[in-house]
Amino acid sequence: ARLVVLVSGSGSNLQALLDACQDPAYGAQVVAVGADRDGIASLDRAAAAGVPSFVHKVKDYPERIVWDRALTASVAEYRPDLVVSAGFLKLVGEDFLHAFGDRYVNTHNALLPSFPGIHGPRDALEYGVKVTGATLFFVDGGVDTGPIIAQVTVPVEDDDTEDTLSERIKEVERRQLVDWVGRLVRDGWTITGRKVRTK
Ligand code: GRF
Repeated sequence: ARLVVLVSGSGSNLQALLDACQDPAYGAQVVAVGADRDGIASLDRAAAAGVPSFVHKVKDYPERIVWDRALTASVAEYRPDLVVSAGFLKLVGEDFLHAFGDRYVNTHNALLPSFPGIHGPRDALEYGVKVTGATLFFVDGGVDTGPIIAQVTVPVEDDDTEDTLSERIKEVERRQLVDWVGRLVRDGWTITGRKVRTK
């Protein structure tokens, strides 16, 4: 199966996918990496793995919708079976969702529907929850609102800072991402209402 991975940052989740794809039994290949900015470690990781990449910055386009079309066209060139947002910090628009909304997954560093948005660990810490985690879900038009594929829990420790909690989440988040992306592409899936099932 063909994966296109979208990134904005350090790319530890991307790296976990690249590593998993080394094993033919995993059943997937990262065929391209897309980003919304340059100068990020994710793009170096793609290059080191010999995977092509493309960058579309919102500010280089006159309107958000034109950026969205460019992103959609670049992703489409690689004919992905699944598009994975792995720390991609942009909300895609209607064109993208029209093209890939049935196969676009995102990983979030909190237990949705709690703490959506870009500060999942910080918000969980501030709220004072004792358990948080990571959620893999299909992206819809909202902010972290789509049908949930899988979740994993992580304890919040009394002396946690945003950094220590984020790192504890990322360790299990990577494993969940690799595990479930593999299952989705090897087994296929159905979505009935909000219920995601592998076949
Ligand atoms: C992940 O924890 C993701 O949930 C959040 O940003 C992190 C991405 O890290 N949105 P990386 O770029 O994969 O290292």
